[in-house]
Amino acid sequence: MSQVGELVPGLIAMAPEHNLREGGPMQETLAVARSEVQREARERAYAIPLSQFHVGNPELFRSDTLWPYFERLRKEEPVHWCSTSPVGNYWSVTKYNDIMHVETNPQIFSSDARLGGIMLRDVDPKYDWPSFIAMDEPRHSKQRKSVQPLFTPPELVKMAALIRERSASVLDNLPRNETFNWVERVSIELTTQMLATLFDFPWEQRRKLTRWSDVSTALPKSGVVANEEQRGAELTECSETFAKLFAERARQPMKSDLVSMLAHSEATRGMDRENLLGNLILLIVGGNDTTRNSMTGSVLALNENPDQYDKLRANPALIASFVPEVIRWQTPLAHMRRTATQDTELGGKLIRKGHRVVMWYVSGNRDGDVIKDADAFLIDRRNPHNHMSFGFGIHRCLGLRVAELQLRIIWEEILKRFDRIEVVGEPKRVYSSFVKGYEALPVRIVG
Ligand code: HEM
Repeated sequence: MSQVGELVPGLIAMAPEHNLREGGPMQETLAVARSEVQREARERAYAIPLSQFHVGNPELFRSDTLWPYFERLRKEEPVHWCSTSPVGNYWSVTKYNDIMHVETNPQIFSSDARLGGIMLRDVDPKYDWPSFIAMDEPRHSKQRKSVQPLFTPPELVKMAALIRERSASVLDNLPRNETFNWVERVSIELTTQMLATLFDFPWEQRRKLTRWSDVSTALPKSGVVANEEQRGAELTECSETFAKLFAERARQPMKSDLVSMLAHSEATRGMDRENLLGNLILLIVGGNDTTRNSMTGSVLALNENPDQYDKLRANPALIASFVPEVIRWQTPLAHMRRTATQDTELGGKLIRKGHRVVMWYVSGNRDGDVIKDADAFLIDRRNPHNHMSFGFGIHRCLGLRVAELQLRIIWEEILKRFDRIEVVGEPKRVYSSFVKGYEALPVRIVG
């Protein structure tokens, strides 16, 4: 990576807090360094041959330099074969309508874990726990239906009051005029609380849910776990904890929580331990990283676009279109992958049976042929729900209404309390081309 890219974290570490205030000299230095990183990335993306493109490289996501690579693919080779990846060859699908084609033909493009699953990297056979996101029909729908009732409008109404109360309490306890990490204090805390509510998980142990989610998705080089033994031990604890909870809930009358629903539904109550763990991890990861990173992304997007922040403060009714715009802009899951079950054609390319096909939502969401001003963050779009962040077809996100509800409530409560949440340093981004998010975002609440 570029020298400037390496320099940026160093600059942040050096930056005295008071110099990071809006317009301060250090803030300007950071902005210059950032634009230099972007300029170099653009030059490189247009200089190297397409045959050398590996857009799934997690480093592009950690350094936020992915954009010109996807832009070039959309223009020059929207369906692209990568044969230079250390995790195996794959097709990249980068245009909105081509992604829709893959999403809506699950008989040709399979999600089955036995063929490789839903991430660019094949499922590690050691952790091949069946979950319905990585199943095809008819098994997928049967298991999905078991937990669907928790995501219906009447349940959401019940959830809203609790989410509001908890959001208010987290926000009321934040420091003023002092730098803190928004990811840790707000995004992780609130999504963890929501997960504990959905699972009816012991409240005081709720941070374990976040940890298990992080451990189950971490890449070897991410630093989340020291080694595979540690990962195995932590996930065994997760499995044992939930197996106990599952057995307890099965003995009790049916309640409105995800563990009870899995324990009582005909399609899932007889699940073996691995299938149970697979579905639970799916629900934990599904509800954790995604909402967390949208919450952090919302603060960052408004700071990068101060005119939009002013608009929102002047008219809080815009929260309704701001929330889906944040989810598009952030695209918390950058891709989903499928495996071709037969030879097929897409974008003039012949995809062979068994090939990996990666749908880059992060690129479809910037496809200017379908979304007007796709690179701009505009909180008052006419059709803000026209984005790919929740996927489409039979696997379309089950928790999307919960996620939108949570974001809506937190911003209603923020606007009531704080004049401005200021980003005072560079975000630290996650090393992953699957979960697109943040480890840290230094902020200060002014006033
Ligand atoms: C902004 C927040 C969220 C985003 C961006 C998101 C994104 C996604 C995406 C891209 C998929 C795959 C869609 C496909 O393959 O077509 C998915 C599936 C899923 N999501 Fe979400 N998600 C979010 C929040 C949640 C929440 C809060 C939950 C639950 C607590 C959840 C639970 C699930 C489940 C269970 C699936 C699997 C559905 C199936 O295979 O039938 N998600 N999500």
